[in-house]
Amino acid sequence: MQFDFGENWVEFSENALTWDRAMSAVNDFSALFRGIAIESKTFLDIGCGQGLSLLSAEALGARVVGCDINSKCIAMVRRNRKYFNAMDKNKVTLVTGSILEDDVVQKLRQSVAGSVGYDIVHAWGVLHHTGDMRRALINSISLVKPGGHLVVAIYNRHWSNPAWKCIKALYCVSPVVIQKSIVCFFYFLLIFAKMLVTGENPLEKQRGMDFYHDVVDWVGGYPYEYAGKNEIDQIGRDHGLELLRFIPAKVPTGCNEYIFQKRP
Ligand SMILES: C[S@@+](CC[C@H](N)C(=O)[O-])C[C@H]1O[C@@H](n2cnc3c(N)ncnc32)[C@H](O)[C@@H]1O
Repeated sequence: MQFDFGENWVEFSENALTWDRAMSAVNDFSALFRGIAIESKTFLDIGCGQGLSLLSAEALGARVVGCDINSKCIAMVRRNRKYFNAMDKNKVTLVTGSILEDDVVQKLRQSVAGSVGYDIVHAWGVLHHTGDMRRALINSISLVKPGGHLVVAIYNRHWSNPAWKCIKALYCVSPVVIQKSIVCFFYFLLIFAKMLVTGENPLEKQRGMDFYHDVVDWVGGYPYEYAGKNEIDQIGRDHGLELLRFIPAKVPTGCNEYIFQKRP
């Protein structure tokens, strides 16, 4: 059972992506990378989805490689390049495949960086959807070069995680009419809940996204895993990383952001 992320990103790209959203994606991406140089660096985006992060990195001058298990996502990255004025800059390299597969990891290692790895490996909201988060994280770490950075966002551990897992599984096995009803129900519930918890208007979305497609992603995103800060930090430390910055999720079941550096 696997949620079709590609379908959601096709819908988003065709109906919701605008020049303004692309600009806001680049701005928020720059803020996340505050203090880390991007220009001329090698940048790998694992689970690149609709391409907002990958194309932001390219627009900021990185040499980028994108990877996604879903071929519809790869097609959307090619389509969405026009919003980032990226046409005549560096060429983007795109790989369709899973970060869990050794031959894909090997291909990514050889794609741009040679055997030493990438300056920056980025996986935002991805590793917990692979079906084996720990292995996906370790494979991602293996692609970072010594001294390089790993930037990941992973669902926070919370008492309500098992309930969300059931909702996501139910969504994936339901007929379209039930799926639409689930999205509709949670769309309004999550607007209310997020306003209450964060005091912000959730319709003013960050990272270039829009709230509706985020909700579809949220209620459908299966496989689904989660982890607390200490669990992810421990895996990082066991594999040669040091946690430089931790940005806690704004809502308890949201994504924590981690910025690691690999020891030289
Ligand atoms: C929630 S979306 C995040 C997309 C994008 N990173 C973003 O920040 O908007 C998760 C993405 O991970 C991809 N994905 C899931 N499992 C994967 C795997 N094993 N290897 C590579 N990509 C995977 C999905 O196809 C999807 O595009």
